[in-house]
Amino acid sequence: MGSASGKAILFGEHAVVYGRPAIATAIDRGVHTEARPAERDLLSVRGETEQTIPDDAETDERLNQAFDRVLALYPDTRSAARVDLRVELPGGAGLGCSAAMGVAVIAALDELYGVVRSAGQRAEASLAWERVFHGNPSGIDSMVSALGGMLFFRKGKTAISINPKVTLPVVIAHTGIASSTREMIDSVARQRTQDAERVERVFDGIESIVSNGRLAIEAGDLRAVGQLMDLNHSLLSSLMLSTVEIEELVGTARAHGALGAKLTGAGGGGSIVALARDEAHAHTICDALAQKSRFAFVTAAGAPSTTSERVSV
Ligand code: MEV
Repeated sequence: MGSASGKAILFGEHAVVYGRPAIATAIDRGVHTEARPAERDLLSVRGETEQTIPDDAETDERLNQAFDRVLALYPDTRSAARVDLRVELPGGAGLGCSAAMGVAVIAALDELYGVVRSAGQRAEASLAWERVFHGNPSGIDSMVSALGGMLFFRKGKTAISINPKVTLPVVIAHTGIASSTREMIDSVARQRTQDAERVERVFDGIESIVSNGRLAIEAGDLRAVGQLMDLNHSLLSSLMLSTVEIEELVGTARAHGALGAKLTGAGGGGSIVALARDEAHAHTICDALAQKSRFAFVTAAGAPSTTSERVSV
């Protein structure tokens, strides 16, 4: 049996692809897997939300390609395996579904074949899967999925576990519109080619939000965390990553007293994350968001990490 969490990026998406830092948290929805010996290699995916993995030929082809890349990590002499995936996250929602699938598949295959890997090594190995879906990911999704907890991450550097002074009561809501991380990364890359100075200035702003965000989280200053989330959202909007549907959810969360709200993940659809004052308030915001979203839930961000490893990819 293997399992891996989804994630929500609190600060720093997109800029993280260009070597800037970001902060992400594991969420308590993810992917569970079981691998067992079989006559031939087979991957079977079962979704547990209304909107999980699209049932189309392109997705099937990608899943099989990703599965093949992961199987190639094991010796040629291995016996065939059937891997069953149970997915609790919608795909294309900015919640790290594909990374969690990759990490969970590797966890299950490691167990089947008796391979011992640390959580950090598992995150690194799972990039073989993640690259099929996202082209050139920063690795933050896989790292959070494998390590759990809340991480301060910079591509190629040591990922640091953050210990929030208080657990952050956050609400996640999905617009219902699947977005392609690869396309959104490409769109930012095009803007950067056209006007590098402007985009780098936006990344500078995001980087300073990330460092201040870390301080505010460690100090337990929820108001400051919320304000920084709002600022981060404005900067992401300036990169044309927001949509009418995202704005509607962000506006609803703020109208119900959220301390801050922003798109999370790639944008262009996908999900938002909103910060509440406390758990009861988070449920009030969640009820309001659930009217406009097919998938909204409360999660405690920054619950203690399952590992204290510090790793880099
Ligand atoms: C996707 O969850 C976050 C992005 O920054 C891409 C990445 O870091 O690989 C948009």
